[in-house]
Amino acid sequence: MEGDVVLHKYDVVIVGAGGAGLMAALYASRSVRVAVLSKMWPVRSHTGTAQGGIGAALGNHEEDHPEWHVFDTIKGSDYLADQDAVRVLCYEAVELVYELEHMGLPFDRTPSGRIAQRPFGGHTNNVTKQPVRRACHAADRTGHMILQTLYQQCIKQRVTFFDEFQVLDVILNEGIACGLVALEITTGQLHIFQARAVVFATGGWGKIWQITSNAHSFTGDGAAIVLRRGIPLEDMEFFQFHPTGIYKMGILITEGARGEGGVLINGRGDRFMERYAPTMKDLASRDVISRAIYLEIREGRGVEGKDYVYLDIRPETINRYFELDGKKSPDGTPRRITADEIKTRLPDITDFVRTYLGIDPLNQPIPVQPTAHYAMGGIPTDLDGRALKNENNEALPGLYAAGEVACVSVHGANRLGTNSLVDILVFGRRSGLDAVRYCRQTDFTKLPARADEPVRETLESLRSRPLGDERIADIRAEMQRVMMDYVGVFREATGIEKAIRALRELQERYQRVGIQDKSMCYNTDLLEAWELGCLLELAEVTAVAALARTESRGCHTREDHPQRDDKNWLKHSLAFRTEQGIELRYKPVTILNYPPQERVY
Ligand code: FUM
Repeated sequence: MEGDVVLHKYDVVIVGAGGAGLMAALYASRSVRVAVLSKMWPVRSHTGTAQGGIGAALGNHEEDHPEWHVFDTIKGSDYLADQDAVRVLCYEAVELVYELEHMGLPFDRTPSGRIAQRPFGGHTNNVTKQPVRRACHAADRTGHMILQTLYQQCIKQRVTFFDEFQVLDVILNEGIACGLVALEITTGQLHIFQARAVVFATGGWGKIWQITSNAHSFTGDGAAIVLRRGIPLEDMEFFQFHPTGIYKMGILITEGARGEGGVLINGRGDRFMERYAPTMKDLASRDVISRAIYLEIREGRGVEGKDYVYLDIRPETINRYFELDGKKSPDGTPRRITADEIKTRLPDITDFVRTYLGIDPLNQPIPVQPTAHYAMGGIPTDLDGRALKNENNEALPGLYAAGEVACVSVHGANRLGTNSLVDILVFGRRSGLDAVRYCRQTDFTKLPARADEPVRETLESLRSRPLGDERIADIRAEMQRVMMDYVGVFREATGIEKAIRALRELQERYQRVGIQDKSMCYNTDLLEAWELGCLLELAEVTAVAALARTESRGCHTREDHPQRDDKNWLKHSLAFRTEQGIELRYKPVTILNYPPQERVY
């Protein structure tokens, strides 16, 4: 304890207890003292919502190769992913899945006992161009199982967890990351964690949009904290909309539902993806399908003329399309699926639909619309998770990022389904290992005097504001509406400019937001106000980067610039926060053996 702040000292401190944080913790804790800070109970972290599978070219059902996974990922990224990073992702995925299996993760099995795999969007046999089964799954709870498995391993390894600790700042001294400031949510006590290395694994910021699959707690804290400390954010204009969120609620209905044979149907009863992606159909990449859904709706072919379509997983529909597509079982007979098989393979999503919509998806189609799902951009890192501070790829000593908050970049302009789980685990592990290497070469950097002062001032200023007429929920709702209307799946300059103006006004209004709860204990009012500050900044960065990129690539569709423009835009954006506002700089994409081509699905 020093003054009224509690001091802690660990070699590595990790922020976030999702897959990336736990994997980093597991590996680092084999060699050094590790603490994990999580704003919630660790196994409630957002990794738990990843449903359909983790991609790895095991070839358990049919021929597959890590190199095919590499190509699919690069093509899926619309050629913006760094190809050296994609190689690491896809080749390390195979051994990683077996490592999870050996840790006890209860994967589903093939009849011969191997890990079961299902098709997912954009994963192909590179020769026939047909879908390949690459997503290793545990029903539709794969992320949840990963969290449980890794948490148990971390407990066994005696990692120290600080649950319900909200990290509010990273401490830098002379350009070296040396600790964190955190609020103990249950008491309001401030803590300083001194560390040789700090790893951010705080996840994404889908809450800047109105319709999102992201949890209320997913507010981009890590990205906003480092941005405020002068570190740029990479490729922020690219945010993925998953095609199938429950209508109006955004709750995810896994792509695994289409992997099992489910089809998207418009208001006229047509399987419209046949027109947009004649080979991959309902298993084209997510950007292609989300655009197609919006185009159907725009042209009046939403269900009952409204802004949704159907995802149909009724066995009779699936079997009809299996027959039309000539799908065969391994023994050569026509492929069929039963209601019981659907229930076993997709238990959670069938339950969600019953709970939230009051319908049985085995008897009725599910109303769906695209839902903001995943940040392709984030804190720039190298292949070992080291945070990069500029366009020359210089690392900031002691600072790491992994998982959705990081941009390494393996997803480029559009992530393939199942690659999030691979990303968080492959690069979580690499960050943990490199943090250990770094600890071995470095002593603790001295903490600057009064390192908690900026946080104390921010919290005091939020707490002491009079209760005026501005409310957190109103500003958040307005931000989400503006982002949905103008910086969603389709974008164009006038709309994005409107969004930027609106976001700046919202930031001014945010300065007048009042906090009703003045207490220290479990003050979620205060925390939501602080989180809203993060979301507003990330929304503005997203809009500014989206306005600058005058091309269409992956999930970034500019209606006023409909073509991909490799001559001018085959580059990553880096957004810096400066006194004058957001400054954009750029750096090249690493291309190895896959030069950009036209994307056809
Ligand atoms: O559709 C899903 O199950 C989501 C998986 C992912 O985002 O990778």
